[in-house]
Amino acid sequence: MDGIARDLFPSLEDHPYFNTCSIGPLSTPVRNEVNSYLEQWYEKGGIAWVQEGGWNDKVEEARSLFADLIGASKEHIAFSFGNSVAFSSILSAINLTSGSNIIYNDLDFPAIPAGVMAQNQRGIDYRVVNSTNNEVDVDHYTDVIDENTILLTASEVASNTGSRINPKRLVEISQEHNIPVFLDTYQSTGVIPMDVKKTEIDFLASGCLKWLIGGFGISFLYIRDDHIENLDPSSIGWMGVDDPFADLFDKLRTNLHRPRDATKFQYGTPYPVGAASAAAGMKIVKDIGIERIFNQDMKITQLIIEEADKRGMEVQTPRDPDSRGSIVNVKVENAANVVQTLQNEGYVLDMRSHGLRIAPHFYNNSQDVYKLFERVSQLI
Ligand SMILES: Cc1ncc(COP(=O)(O)O)c(C=O)c1O
Repeated sequence: MDGIARDLFPSLEDHPYFNTCSIGPLSTPVRNEVNSYLEQWYEKGGIAWVQEGGWNDKVEEARSLFADLIGASKEHIAFSFGNSVAFSSILSAINLTSGSNIIYNDLDFPAIPAGVMAQNQRGIDYRVVNSTNNEVDVDHYTDVIDENTILLTASEVASNTGSRINPKRLVEISQEHNIPVFLDTYQSTGVIPMDVKKTEIDFLASGCLKWLIGGFGISFLYIRDDHIENLDPSSIGWMGVDDPFADLFDKLRTNLHRPRDATKFQYGTPYPVGAASAAAGMKIVKDIGIERIFNQDMKITQLIIEEADKRGMEVQTPRDPDSRGSIVNVKVENAANVVQTLQNEGYVLDMRSHGLRIAPHFYNNSQDVYKLFERVSQLI
C-alpha cells in the first residue's frame, strides 16, 4: 500500500511516523505558510491583519475549511484556543444549577473530564460511564442519566487506544432525554467522516494539530442552530461580540451586542500563524477527501493489527473498523524501553497503556509498518 501525498512530507523517509495522534508531521505547504507569516510580520507588522490574504483572512479561511470538513457552514463555527477552552465556553452557556450532573466516559481525553470535575465547586456532580475491553457502549449512558443530567460528553475516538464510540447513537439517547451532547473530535476530525447535520450533534470541538496536520494555536467549536439562538455564553472576549471593531471600540464598553452566529462563543485575538498553518493542513485533507483518507487509514491500521497478531502481540484496540479510529495500541513487554530505543533511532511514536501507540495517517505506507514491526520484534 502506497502512502497518499507522501511527497508533501519530506521528513517521513528519515523518521518513520506513527504519532499523528499527538501532532501530525510537518508538510511543505504548512512550513511555507509559517515562513510566510514570519515574512509578513517582519515586513508589514500590524498591517498584515487587514491586507488582502492577510491574517484576518486566514482565520476566516480556516473557519470555512473546518466547517466544510464536518458538513457545517462557517456561521456555525467559532474559533477557539483548544478543546478545553471550547468546552469551557459551552459550560459557561448552559444552565449549571447546583445539584445537576454531567456525564463522560472513562476513555475520554482529560480535557473534558477536567472541565467537568472543576464544576464540582459550584455544586455540579459528574457520572462516569465505564468501558469494557477498551470499548464504550454509549447505551450505558442511559444507566447513569437521571432527571438532573444537563450534558453528555464523549471523545469520539479515545487518544490512548483508538476506540471509537457511535456519536449518532449517543445523540439519539440524548434526544430521548432532552439533554445536549458535547463531542470531542480531536482524534477523529480528519479521519472519520462527520456530517453534523445528519448526526444532529449539539456541540463539537476539534483542534488542527493532529489529523488535520495544521499545527498549534487554533481550534474550532461547532454549535447547532438552535443553541446559537438560545444560548448566551457568560465566558467570552471581545471577539465574541457583534462587530468587534465598531466605532473603534467605544460602543463596546457600554453595550454588549451578541452576534447571531457561532462567533458569540469566541474569546480574544486569534493566533494568526496557527490559523494560517491550520488552513494549509486542512486544505491538504480536503483535497484528498475524508472518505479516501478514512479508507486508507482503516487499511493501514488493519495491516498493523495483522502484523501484531502474527507475532502474538496483544492488540488493545477494538478490531471492528466501526469501533476504532486510526490508532492501534499494541502491548509489548518493556514497552517503555522499546519506545525509547525506537525514538533514539528516529521513529516517531509513543507509549500509552503499557503499549506502543501506533497512529498512522494517509501518508504512511506498508513499508513503514513492516519496518516498525521487524524492529520491534528484534527489541522484545
Ligand atoms: C481527544 C482529545 N481531546 C482534546 C485534546 C487536547 O485538548 P486541548 O486542545 O485543550 O489541549 C487531545 C489531545 O491533546 C485529545 O486527544
